[in-house]
Amino acid sequence: MIEPEQGERLIQVATASRRNAVSKRSGFAVGAAIEAEDGTIYGGCNVENSTYGLTVCAERVAIWKALSEGVRRFRAVAVVTGADEPTPPCGACRQILWEFAGDVPVVSATTDGKRKFYRMSELLPEPFEF
Ligand code: THU
Repeated sequence: MIEPEQGERLIQVATASRRNAVSKRSGFAVGAAIEAEDGTIYGGCNVENSTYGLTVCAERVAIWKALSEGVRRFRAVAVVTGADEPTPPCGACRQILWEFAGDVPVVSATTDGKRKFYRMSELLPEPFEF
């Protein structure tokens, strides 16, 4: 479970990261934040590019940042978009979040204040593991 304060802190960081989204090709800016076990929060935004196919989602940018700093244990994830309703992480990000963060709570939020709460095990009930 995400404590309300923890969720709002993560949403704040994700919202700030979203401002850096490189998303003019889709027009869909996304911000994400992931909290490490020690409480450090890593933000990320989606990064689109001319290849289209090598676009990276905000969630993966956030977790790559943390992993590349040596973080290996995580507590929670937030995703923020400007959509009408909160959107959960895409399928590819679910797989990555499951592999590196495990069964953590996820909050999806919209910029106008809607929230939806999940756990990774409900978003990815039959994960590929190797
Ligand atoms: N996107 C994310 O950053 N996270 C998601 O969970 C869903 C999709 C990005 C990828 C692309 O830049 C844009 O949103 C439209 O799909």
